[in-house]
Amino acid sequence: MHEHEGDCCDVSCVRTEGLVLVSVKDGVATVTLNRPDKLNALSAEVLGELFLAIADIEADAAVGAVVITGSTACKRPSFAAGADIAEMVEFTGLEMREHSRLGQRTFAMLEAMSKPSIAAVNGFALGGGCELAMACHMRFAADCALLGQPEINLGIIPGFGGSQRLPRLVGQGRAFELLLSGDPVNAAEAHRIGLVNRVYPAAELVAAAQEFATKLAGKAPIARDAIVDVVLRGTDAGPEKAQAIEADLFGLVGGSDDVKEGMKAYLEKRTALWTGR
Ligand code: COA
Repeated sequence: MHEHEGDCCDVSCVRTEGLVLVSVKDGVATVTLNRPDKLNALSAEVLGELFLAIADIEADAAVGAVVITGSTACKRPSFAAGADIAEMVEFTGLEMREHSRLGQRTFAMLEAMSKPSIAAVNGFALGGGCELAMACHMRFAADCALLGQPEINLGIIPGFGGSQRLPRLVGQGRAFELLLSGDPVNAAEAHRIGLVNRVYPAAELVAAAQEFATKLAGKAPIARDAIVDVVLRGTDAGPEKAQAIEADLFGLVGGSDDVKEGMKAYLEKRTALWTGR
């Protein structure tokens, strides 16, 4: 039995062993990085399992939102202490590029998932760990969390999308500061600069993230998915193209039964019953 074991063991995305565990409860999949002896460092094997876990979660109709966290069995609280340095030290340049592409593909799939995701950053989120947190749609952190991109101290650069997501989240100046110094920030500072959405006492973090995710999982599924889509696709489009994407999705969502149900329920002063059609 693993951490956060849910009450819903017949759903298809559940994983009870391996380097990436998945439990499901109340429509929320909790993904736990499970490599405690290495502070959940993201080896190619971990990334491979994470890729498959995300694909399963995306395909599982019982799941409406996702929480990602790190095993609590680490000797110090860790979300993920980065890409696996012991593995990378042996890589050639071409293998480094392949590794970067594996991480990028995995995190891009997570970001593009139609179900909202929350990183519950329960400790160290360094290098690839911070990049994984940034690929989630939201980040909640424990008060003991430490986030950063220390790659420069190893003579490398972020390779799992961090050089691009960090400036989009905190602005170019702050991103340069973090990327060029390699210095981590604590949870309070990460919150101040917009790197994390919320900060909780460590013992309350995962439950708080799961509670919020449960709320999101209960929202109108078509509108929820479209909101994720429009924000992601609009962010890098020019303003005119982004507005066009919004109007198209507004129309697409507007044709659903759920829109009629949502508006009728409002007018009839009752709770809407979403069907996802
Ligand atoms: N890759 C591979 N192994 C890692 C790792 C990583 N990114 N981060 C931690 N580990 C391993 C350590 O090698 C150690 O393994 P060992 O017990 O077999 O020696 C184990 O996890 C525990 O880490 P340790 O360094 O002993 O813990 P600590 O409490 O002294 O320090 C950190 C914690 C996070 C400060 C330290 O582990 C660290 O600096 N890690 C690397 C962070 C980093 O540069 N990440 C970016 C990588 S691109």
